[in-house]
Amino acid sequence: MIVHVLPDPDAVGSLAARLIEAELLDIAAPVLGVATGSTPEPVYAHLTRRRERGTFRTDRLRAFALDEYVGLAAGHAESYRSVLERGFAAPLGVPAERLHVPSWEADDPAAASDAYEREILLAGGIDLQVLGIGRNGHIGFNEPGSDFRSLTRVVPLTESTRAANARFFEEPADVPTLSISQGLATIMRARAIALIATGADKADAIRAALTGPVDTGMPASILQRHPRLRVFLDGAAASRLDLTLLATFAVVHDWREAAR
Ligand code: GLP
Repeated sequence: MIVHVLPDPDAVGSLAARLIEAELLDIAAPVLGVATGSTPEPVYAHLTRRRERGTFRTDRLRAFALDEYVGLAAGHAESYRSVLERGFAAPLGVPAERLHVPSWEADDPAAASDAYEREILLAGGIDLQVLGIGRNGHIGFNEPGSDFRSLTRVVPLTESTRAANARFFEEPADVPTLSISQGLATIMRARAIALIATGADKADAIRAALTGPVDTGMPASILQRHPRLRVFLDGAAASRLDLTLLATFAVVHDWREAAR
């Protein structure tokens, strides 16, 4: 595990984008796993700048979403397909056919989940997965208690996750109750993972995920077992981490001093 601690979310986005570009540089048709939520926005903004400068190429890039709500009307502005089209695919010049999102429109979300898992395999697997983290330690929509062996499947959302995501909807009751999410085993199959967290409300989850026991009660803790995990944190998200303890088993780069 390599943990980068940076002064602010923009610096997190800048370094993560630089390292994502480097990771994908020599792959002919790279497959990038993309997360939604507010956290990766600076990463996508910096990737967009790097594309405009000509260093980050997306002409053969394929992207796979981590998850999708079940039950929103087609084209709903808050469906993850719409969110990723606006915030990732359009600015980065990735056409709709190269942006893969679980399709709940099929009447059978369980079959749609299996089909999505196959799509990832047929694409050759995910080269690099960008991840955010929920306040309760969820990754994708793998809520506490999710099986570490889980594949893409239909997942009910916890009330705490629905409450956290209510800010995107007119009424709290409008937040869907079901999702399709890549499973924890699906995520762990990615060849490299970039976990991004910013803000003090992620500090407890980050401490438990990185330095606590690997336990299904804290889904993100499984990432400790990934051979190529990079973590990008701002000072607030890292504020409850014991960096001395972390440094006994991880490489810790504290960029805050260097940035001053
Ligand atoms: C959502 C998404 C996750 C995301 C998380 C955190 O529920 N399904 O993929 O990582 O919540 O979101 P944010 O980055 O907005 O805090």
